[in-house]
Amino acid sequence: MSDKNPIIIGNWKMNTSLEEATTLIIGIRQGLVDFKEEVNVVICPPFVYLRTVDSILPKKVNLGAQNMFWEKKGAYTGEISPLMLSDIDCKYVIIGHSERRQNLGETDEMVNKKLKAALNNGIIPILCVGENEEEHEKKLSISKIKEQVEKALNKIEEKDIENLIIAYEPIWAIGTGKPALGKDAEKMAKLIKTFLADLYNEKIVEKVKIIYGGSVDANNIEEFIKQPNIEGALVGTACLKAEQFINIIKKAVK
Ligand code: PGA
Repeated sequence: MSDKNPIIIGNWKMNTSLEEATTLIIGIRQGLVDFKEEVNVVICPPFVYLRTVDSILPKKVNLGAQNMFWEKKGAYTGEISPLMLSDIDCKYVIIGHSERRQNLGETDEMVNKKLKAALNNGIIPILCVGENEEEHEKKLSISKIKEQVEKALNKIEEKDIENLIIAYEPIWAIGTGKPALGKDAEKMAKLIKTFLADLYNEKIVEKVKIIYGGSVDANNIEEFIKQPNIEGALVGTACLKAEQFINIIKKAVK
């Protein structure tokens, strides 16, 4: 898989029945049959469909989870461990999505523990950060993102962050059909790199991928991908229709 191509990650969230999940993944598979470009695509279905999706997934597409617990095993009812994800060949995990921070009380400390656990167990974390509408309006976006990045990376060593992906996802842009402007997302991506450079060696920071999420679709993907510091997208709503998702992938790698 080429590292030069942008990474496109589909987050299904809590959507699809088993039948719909199967139809969707068959559609994505068919859509990629004649596509000769190398793609860097990750699909994150709900936990219960991971195995089914994996059995149909084209080889060139990777499997991701939407969440994970930080302990390896034990009395943690309802949780899924990094070992379990590795066991089913799930190579990526979304960590700290704003919907979990908002609806399930996920704190920066929990995000930090999950990030450490993913990195220690060879699973590539997609760390989500983003400001809400109020913070955006009060011009607090930069301080919020800086704080989220620093707390998420607390006591994480330089050697471990090479594979890290950070998704800048302004909360006001998620599921609203109102994406950030490409140039504003780029500004934030660049800032995230400077926050990282305050913590780690620049050579390592270069390897961290910054992607954008929030109302990405086939009409606007190129606007984000063309930005020098944005290396991919985290897609929600528009990844639930095979044709739309395929269009996003095709436009992204063009
Ligand atoms: P959206 O979701 O594409 O529906 O805005 C993105 C996300 O939450 O990751």
